Amino acid sequence: MRSILTLSNPIPNPPTTSPSHHHPMAANCLPPAAALSGGIAIRRLPATTARPSSIAFHPLSSSASLKCLRLSHQKRSKIHVSSGNFGAVVTTKCFASDPEQLKSAREDIKDLLKTTFCHPIMVRLGWHDAGTYNKNIEEWPQRGGANGSLRFDVEQKHAANAGLVNALKLLQPIKDKYAGVTYADLFQLASATAVEDAGGPKIPMKYGRVDVTGPEQCPEEGRLPDAGPPSPADHLRDVFYRMGLTDKDIVALSGAHTLGRSRPERSGWGKPETKYTKDGPGAPGGQSWTVKWLRFDNSYFKDIKEKRDEDLLVLPTDAALFEDPSFKVFAEKYAVDEKAFFDDYAEAHAKLSNLGAKFDPPEGLSINDEPPPVAAAQEKFVAAKYSSGKD
Ligand code: HEM
Repeated sequence: MRSILTLSNPIPNPPTTSPSHHHPMAANCLPPAAALSGGIAIRRLPATTARPSSIAFHPLSSSASLKCLRLSHQKRSKIHVSSGNFGAVVTTKCFASDPEQLKSAREDIKDLLKTTFCHPIMVRLGWHDAGTYNKNIEEWPQRGGANGSLRFDVEQKHAANAGLVNALKLLQPIKDKYAGVTYADLFQLASATAVEDAGGPKIPMKYGRVDVTGPEQCPEEGRLPDAGPPSPADHLRDVFYRMGLTDKDIVALSGAHTLGRSRPERSGWGKPETKYTKDGPGAPGGQSWTVKWLRFDNSYFKDIKEKRDEDLLVLPTDAALFEDPSFKVFAEKYAVDEKAFFDDYAEAHAKLSNLGAKFDPPEGLSINDEPPPVAAAQEKFVAAKYSSGKD
């Protein structure tokens, strides 16, 4: 027999502003039925002139998505379950994003990557949302960081963000489909998925980032690095130390330039086109750091060290990685040891993606299906003991 769940609270009025200006809590309250994979289909009661006082649910299989029904302004509310002749009371638990919707969004991002080859700009988007973090400011969101503020025009207009509106346009349909995923999570999800899809390391990500609510919460311009400052190594340290990152993080993260291109009409850096970029894929043009600029590997370090190909870009801040004695230790290592680069990159990328973020729940959410690393290592050990030795 099918159960009917009835909310005891009225649902909030439908939002009247554009999606990018929703209150984050309201945005995640009632995900569209289509987005609740294997969860609960929501049927709104027929529209009346008054606000509806109840809403009917038809549980289809599991109650997992109940966790993420947010009723209003983060209030924990009760859902009365009337199923046949007994009634139970379930307390909803609301997080910033819904894990099931995050997983579905990840699949949609993979499809987007396949058709548009937008890996590089997604990585840049995630980095520019997170990279405004200032560890010397305690308050959220004044401290900046991965909080979705980059969706607002005022921040997209910062010179460092030229062109990132294109990444936002690509992601907006996915955001519209999954109301239970915050912008802050979506940007970081897109970035980590892009790195992995391009052949890079698996990044130990967590989710549940809360979004800022309005453009007045955007950081001021000037927190991201310049590519050609008077003293590149000092400048990199000023900017990345402010984020609480280390020399190793700076060098590893710079390795993300293994992906993508620089375009003179956006950043002012790079050639309009080269033999490696004139045919795309994706929009043609720009100058890449590497030959295979849609493949995540350690070729960035090899190429910027050699500086032999005029068609490959080396920004002053890239060159600094082989000039500064402390950076050089890591850059030399990554040029010859891809595994070392991948390990350090994955760790630094995860750190970057968490900067300044306010997580709900505070410990974050995992959307990985595989067991945590410790359990996996134990499993491998046991399997190796009894296997034929091929593993
Ligand atoms: C170290 C300081 C950094 C500087 C000065 C810098 C500078 C730049 C510049 C000038 C561009 C070209 C943008 C354009 O014209 O479209 C660019 C692109 C890019 N940056 Fe960085 N970047 C830095 C660090 C990072 C980090 C930490 C990441 C990621 C972890 C990153 C990821 C990317 C990617 C993937 C692109 C290519 C975007 C595309 O092809 O659309 N960068 N960066």
